[in-house]
Amino acid sequence: MSSVEYTQTDTHIGTDDNQRKTSQESMDRSRVVPRITIQAFCENEETANAISNASGDRRLAKSHVTVQMGGARAANSFYQSAPTPNLIIIESQAERDAMLSDLDKLAESCDAGTKVLVIGMVNDVVLYRSLMQRGVSEYMVAPLEPYQVIEAIANLYADPDAEPVGEVIAFVGAKGGSGSSTICHNTAWAMSKITDTDVVISDFDLAFGTAGLDFDQDPVQGIADALSAPERLDEVLLDRLLTKCSENLSLFAAPSTLDHVYDLSEKQCSTVVDVMRSNLPYAFVDIPHMWTGWSRQMLVHADDIIITATPDLASLRNTKNLIDLIGKERTNDAPPHIVLNQVNVPKRPEISVADFNKSLDRDVDFVIDFNPQLFGTAANNGQMILEFEPKAKASEQFNDLASKIARISDQNVETGSAFAKLLGKLNRK
Ligand SMILES: Nc1ncnc2c1ncn2[C@@H]1O[C@H](COP(=O)(O)OP(=O)(O)OP(=O)(O)O)[C@@H](O)[C@H]1O
Ligand SMILES: [Mg+2]
Repeated sequence: MSSVEYTQTDTHIGTDDNQRKTSQESMDRSRVVPRITIQAFCENEETANAISNASGDRRLAKSHVTVQMGGARAANSFYQSAPTPNLIIIESQAERDAMLSDLDKLAESCDAGTKVLVIGMVNDVVLYRSLMQRGVSEYMVAPLEPYQVIEAIANLYADPDAEPVGEVIAFVGAKGGSGSSTICHNTAWAMSKITDTDVVISDFDLAFGTAGLDFDQDPVQGIADALSAPERLDEVLLDRLLTKCSENLSLFAAPSTLDHVYDLSEKQCSTVVDVMRSNLPYAFVDIPHMWTGWSRQMLVHADDIIITATPDLASLRNTKNLIDLIGKERTNDAPPHIVLNQVNVPKRPEISVADFNKSLDRDVDFVIDFNPQLFGTAANNGQMILEFEPKAKASEQFNDLASKIARISDQNVETGSAFAKLLGKLNRK
């Protein structure tokens, strides 16, 4: 979204809830802002808070943001003796002429390459034009939500010629054995069919991962090679380390042996994930049920998260804790998707779906029945549920979950999808 769109006749352009929701949804797409320095000078506490909040967002994690009060005047005295950063954000509540004169003063000390984003109080077309004439990059009207700040900065620094970056979709189980890997692999398979673009499953369960088994593959190389020398990983090496499962689906397979122990670092993992993100439309990350620096980071930095839980007390508690943590760490992202799996095991006392929802204070997104015949046979055959029994209810649910992650409506799935063509442009292979 550009902050505010002006036309000749606009006197006030409000951001109603619908517009806001659409913008926020579109911003959920990964748009990581590069390593730049941003200095904000605010006049209003609310604006300062919105920028501070935005600076903690994962999309701005690489940039260095400072926020101070005092508006244009403070900026002017600050830059008398300091070099200007990549981006200066100035909030000004002054009248048009006073604001312009403050900005003219600022321009005198601005180094080449510094961009200026102005936050004002009014939708004033004349002011907007004067600002643009002076080379101001963007004008926004307070009050602002953090996501609007992130979006505006991303718009200024996204390379218009760069292809869109891919999405990282993280799958985690609320408890060991809840079926998270099964859901990850099946949904990835569905995603590769629905979007007709490349999807990669990266199996971060290095010693025990089942992605190879589930797709009947036994590759010699895979994710462990990438993690052992992440600085060497590029598009070419990535291509060599992937194992093709079907036309659009590849596997970044785990060695699944006990020959080595892997104490992964956050840096190793984030380097590998970044290379996947910039080379693939969808990286599905199968995270084992463990709580380490890297697994936590993987969740917090993913574009979408799917938690798989089973209907029992431990799963409920862990799901609640995960939702709380994710909510705190990702204030500008949609909440995680929750799959309640292995429901209705005969004779097993379970927490009902209604009670599970009530305790979470939200509804789970999918309820998948316990079906040992179907899941067991597919797993033993090295097949996906959608291949083995396309008409099964679980198959439909995997298609639905994939469509939800790709933000595609049912209609598009059935008609072969205009979106697929669009997403196809992402396919570099
Ligand atoms: N809905 C289901 N009905 C029956 N069996 C299922 C269902 N979902 C998963 N399973 C089975 O449960 C077992 C565990 O699944 P999976 O390995 O996917 O779980 P996980 O959460 O990834 O486990 P881990 O904690 O080891 O990573 C597998 O044998 C799988 O086939
Ligand atoms: Mg698993």
